[in-house]
Amino acid sequence: MTEQKTPGSRRITVVEVGPRDGLQNESAQVPTAAKVAFVEALADAGLPVVEATSFVSPAAVPQLADADEVMRAIRRRPGMRYPVLVPNERGLERALAAGVEAIALFTAATEAFAQANVRASIAETFARFTPVAARARSERLWLRGYVSVAFDDPYSGRVEPKAAVAVAHRLFDLGCDEVSLADTIGTATPEDVARLVAVALRELPADRLALHFHDTGGRALDNVGVGLDYGIKVFDSAAGGLGGCPFAPGAPGNLATERLIAFLHERGIETGVDLAGVERAVATLRGTLASAA
Ligand code: COA
Ligand code: ZN
Repeated sequence: MTEQKTPGSRRITVVEVGPRDGLQNESAQVPTAAKVAFVEALADAGLPVVEATSFVSPAAVPQLADADEVMRAIRRRPGMRYPVLVPNERGLERALAAGVEAIALFTAATEAFAQANVRASIAETFARFTPVAARARSERLWLRGYVSVAFDDPYSGRVEPKAAVAVAHRLFDLGCDEVSLADTIGTATPEDVARLVAVALRELPADRLALHFHDTGGRALDNVGVGLDYGIKVFDSAAGGLGGCPFAPGAPGNLATERLIAFLHERGIETGVDLAGVERAVATLRGTLASAA
C-alpha cells in the first residue's frame, strides 16, 4: 500500500469500454454510423484498446444488435485492439465472420449473477467457453476474460475474494491473455480492492490483471489508486462515464475515461491518450444521444 511511486516512470493501459459497456445500457437507439464514429474517435484519441461491441443475443441486448455491421465498418488502426464480447460459439462465429481479432469472454463470481446475466451456472459458462477459447486460440485471437461482480452482487451480496479469484484463475487456465475483475455495481471501497487484489496476486500475474470500476459509490478513482499501489497496469473505463449493466440493477455509469486519464496524468503516469480527443468523442456522442432520445 505504501509503495513509492516515481512520477513518469510508469505506463498504464486504459481499456475503453464505452462503446460496449456504455452503449449496451443506453435507452436511446444509437445509429450504427454513430457507434462506428465513436469507436474511431476514441482510437484516434490514442486509446490502445477499444471494446467495440458485443456479439451476444440481440434479444438480450438489443442496443448492440448491429455488432456485425459495426465491426465490418470500423476503420481499424494498426497496432490497436478492438475486443468484442462473446458469450458462446454462436457469438464467436459471428465475430470471426466480421474479422474480429480480439474477444472477451465473460462470466461471474457468483451463481446468482451468472444466471441473471447469461442464464447459466458458472460451470455452464466454462463449458460454453471451452470450445470458444480453443477455436479463438487456433485463430490466434487475443483473449480477455471478465469476472463480473468480483466485489458485490446485487442478488447475493458480498463476494468472497477467493471466489472471484478462483473464477479468474479458470479464465487464465482457458488461455485468457488478460482477466478483468469487475466491480459491476460500483460499490467497492478501497479496502475491498486492497483485499481482493492482495488475494489475487498470490496466484495470478499482476501484469495481466485488469480492474474495472463503476462509479456508483464515487470511489472509483480511489479504487484505481489502490490498484496502482499494488502494481496493476490495466484499468477499464468508459468515455463520458456512460453505461452500466442492464442485468445489474443499481449499476450506473462506468468510471469516466476522461477522469481516469486526468487522474493518471496528474500523477505523472503515461497513458498515450489525448484527453481533448476523448472529450471530443464524448461531445459528439452526447449530441447523438440527445437527438435520439
Ligand atoms: N448471437 C446471436 N444470437 C444468439 C447468440 C449470439 N451469440 N446466442 C444465442 N443466440 C440466440 C439463439 O439463436 C436463440 O435464438 P432464437 O430464440 O431465435 O432461436 C436465442 O438467442 C436463445 O439462445 P440460447 O442458446 O437458448 O441462449 P439463452 O437464451 O440461454 O441466452 C445468452 C444465453 C448468453 C446467449 C444470452 O443470455 C446473452 O446473450 N446474454 C448477454 C448478456 C450480456 O451481454 N450482458 C452484458 C454484459 S455484462
Ligand atoms: Zn462494467
